[in-house]
Amino acid sequence: MNNVNQSEKLIELAKNAMSKAYVPYSHFQVGAAILTKSGQFYSGCNVENAAYPEGTCAEAGAIAAMVLAGNTQIKDIYVMGHGDALVTPCGGCRQKIREFSSAETMIHICGSEGVRKSLTMNELLPFSFGPENLGQQNRE
Ligand code: THU
Repeated sequence: MNNVNQSEKLIELAKNAMSKAYVPYSHFQVGAAILTKSGQFYSGCNVENAAYPEGTCAEAGAIAAMVLAGNTQIKDIYVMGHGDALVTPCGGCRQKIREFSSAETMIHICGSEGVRKSLTMNELLPFSFGPENLGQQNRE
């Protein structure tokens, strides 16, 4: 699959995931879609909870699906929400994405019309703490 088709597929996955979000409290749907270095696709949506802090973000759902399938290297992650503002990953999700990122990982912030802004992991979370700080290498 070429880059354009991959991007279109990731946008579709994020849009579909966004439509499945369980958001009775915020009514703010978010979808996320991941392409791994090995070429696999995963997606997730936010899932809220009556005990508010127990809610999970879309990125967390997509990362959990990726890890469950045995993959740990994010090439691209697309995050999509409604409205005019950029739906950038929250602080906790920046760290969650960081765990599975490399210098090449790109984070694409999307509206339902497509990509609005693309950032490197280092732009999104500079001076980050990661597996290397604990002597770990991110392997698949
Ligand atoms: N949310 C995400 O799913 N990802 C983000 O990066 C930002 C926020 C969700 C959490 C909550 O369900 C809703 O958006 C409003 O904060």
